[in-house]
Amino acid sequence: MKSLGFFTVLVGLSQILGAAAALPWKDSKTRERLELMIRNRRVNNPDDFSKARTEDDPTQHPYYVDMPLDHFGTDPAAKGQTYKNRYYVQDAYYRPGGPVIFQDIGEDGLSGYLGYITKENLLPVMTARLYGGHNDHMHPDRLLILWEHRFYGASAPITNVSLNIGNATPKELTDFYQHHTIEQALEDVPVFANNFTYTFKNWPEDTPQPVLTPDKTPWVFIGCSYSANRGAWLAKRNPGLFKATLASSAPVQEQVNFWQYFVPIEEELAIVYKNCALDLHAAANWMTDAYATKNTTLVDTLLLAIYGDQWTKLVKYYGVDSPTLWLYRVDYLTNIAWTPFTDFQYVGVQAGILGTICTTMETAYDPAGNPDGVFATEPLERAVAAYTKAMVAVSGRETEASSTGTINPYLDGLSWSWQYCTEVGGFQIANTSRSTNLLPSFVDMKQQIDYCISTYGLSDRVTRDGPNVGPINEKYTGWNIELPNVLWTNGQFDPWRQLSIASPDAPEKKATAEIPDCGKSFPRGTQLQWVIRGGHHGSDFAEPIRFNTPLPSTTLTTATKAEPATTPQPRKEVVSDALNAQNLFLSAVKTWIECSTLAWTPTGVPAAGATPRSVTYPGVRHPIARAMVAAATPVP
Ligand SMILES: *[C@@H]1O[C@H](CO)[C@@H](O)[C@H](O)[C@H]1NC(C)=O
Ligand SMILES: *[C@@H]1O[C@H](CO)[C@@H](O)[C@H](O)[C@H]1NC(C)=O
Ligand SMILES: *[C@@H]1O[C@H](CO)[C@@H](O)[C@H](O)[C@H]1NC(C)=O
Ligand SMILES: *[C@@H]1O[C@H](CO)[C@@H](O)[C@H](O)[C@H]1NC(C)=O
Repeated sequence: MKSLGFFTVLVGLSQILGAAAALPWKDSKTRERLELMIRNRRVNNPDDFSKARTEDDPTQHPYYVDMPLDHFGTDPAAKGQTYKNRYYVQDAYYRPGGPVIFQDIGEDGLSGYLGYITKENLLPVMTARLYGGHNDHMHPDRLLILWEHRFYGASAPITNVSLNIGNATPKELTDFYQHHTIEQALEDVPVFANNFTYTFKNWPEDTPQPVLTPDKTPWVFIGCSYSANRGAWLAKRNPGLFKATLASSAPVQEQVNFWQYFVPIEEELAIVYKNCALDLHAAANWMTDAYATKNTTLVDTLLLAIYGDQWTKLVKYYGVDSPTLWLYRVDYLTNIAWTPFTDFQYVGVQAGILGTICTTMETAYDPAGNPDGVFATEPLERAVAAYTKAMVAVSGRETEASSTGTINPYLDGLSWSWQYCTEVGGFQIANTSRSTNLLPSFVDMKQQIDYCISTYGLSDRVTRDGPNVGPINEKYTGWNIELPNVLWTNGQFDPWRQLSIASPDAPEKKATAEIPDCGKSFPRGTQLQWVIRGGHHGSDFAEPIRFNTPLPSTTLTTATKAEPATTPQPRKEVVSDALNAQNLFLSAVKTWIECSTLAWTPTGVPAAGATPRSVTYPGVRHPIARAMVAAATPVP
């Protein structure tokens, strides 16, 4: 799941503004695109796809399947309507008899994720290449499918609205998105899988092409974040469709007010950057006060420093005291207050935007920093100046990502906000009663719901009560879900972990790293789980694994080591525990596929050392304490 992109709530007004108008929209849009850019960068690094394209490069050959728009026949107007759903197939690793790996991308177009079918050090290709649970280059045997979710990228009805979606009216958007629901998108998967055919080139003419539907060939689901939820939900609604599922960082408990998003951020900050934690809290309080008293003195200095001409034009157009300008102030301040956390869920404090902000702010007046922070030790004007300097230092980093291969560059952003406005929720907002709260009071439910209403209009789907998360929680039982043949992985500091089955708030659940033998299931209340020490959102996806490299031994991750407050080091090494999570998945896939009754002819032997260490976490509920206990547990 993405952290919230703060679109401006003032789109309509900005259209009145003419030349200056595009700017606020662009600014808020940029934040949304930044998410994609960060993810693309992680997926594509270090080398990219610039190498010579060949005819065999699967990224050059998208496939499209005609998908019914409405699977459930509830909408007479949609009867018989289909759209083209895009997917890619990597067959370079396929051998007859081998399984199918289904990589689900979730809430984004596929363009940024093509590395998942070409890059050998990323989890999907690794899984497709592995044979029998060990790293064997010689016996790859799996077909890899990269699947695009409906209404993202190229997989949506092509209409006047979708072709020009940035200018669609709320009513047009609401009509367009009628069949963009969790359940419709889930049903796409069995319909696709059960009808799946693939024609291999150069297949011997006297041999029939293999039958690859899940009743004949084992399918494996890989998903991360929202697509991990999809894997879990599919395992519950279509049992047996997939023989093994990886649910990496799956926030399966849906919640509208999700202030807990910031808890892991607060925790990691408290470990690596205590003074910065105090200052971001103080800055949030200052903005809250300025908002309450309508005191623009320092606020406008901050806005001018960051938005320059754009801000000056708005002030000139509306007048410094106008109520409309206040709405812009709040919108811009929201963007600024959010900036430190933009990439935290992927990279944590030290390697990301937050690290740069902290260093800049804490060393503004004293190279050694002050343990109490600038807000506690400097007059307010100077403290805000340090905060401003820090925000200016990162503002250039928000460059727009190009969005190729999609129907319209605005489609993905609007499709995801439709989902969180109607069914998903997860509003990442302030909780000002917390002494560690990091956001100003006006980043609240009302602001989120106002965005939803101003974008899509009021309807039975978008209401003043916010998204209706009830039906999905009831149907799939939220974080109480229990499934066979699913591995749940989470990052210790992943903000979304707070809604996962490994949440400290979830009902007590026993985690095991022992894969049950064939025919055996987990005891009630126990699930196959791995919490990645020092990990964030999808660390097991992002961390490259090296073929035939022994597992790292007792290396502690930097995130659990307290660094001196003012000298953060960007994290360069991999989160070593992510490799353990990956290995556990590969072992689980091997076990579960071999347990499947489908014809499948294993010829490999498991390598020694492929079995991951087994750790039973003691019943410590606080995540940090738990991590420390885990860190102290020697790795065999
Ligand atoms: C779509 O746009 C074209 C060109 O602007 C227009 O002629 C056509 O009537 C539109 N169709 C609908 C259904 O609005
Ligand atoms: C194949 O797809 C069609 C729709 O195109 C669907 O009605 C049917 O149920 C699918 N087949 C299976 C076995 O799911
Ligand atoms: C507004 O804030 C400035 C800077 O902190 C302060 O000097 C001034 O007294 C405040 N004005 C009011 C009316 O509170
Ligand atoms: C704010 O956090 C506290 C826990 O610190 C929690 O009890 C409370 O419900 C939260 N407030 C809101 C509005 O969610």
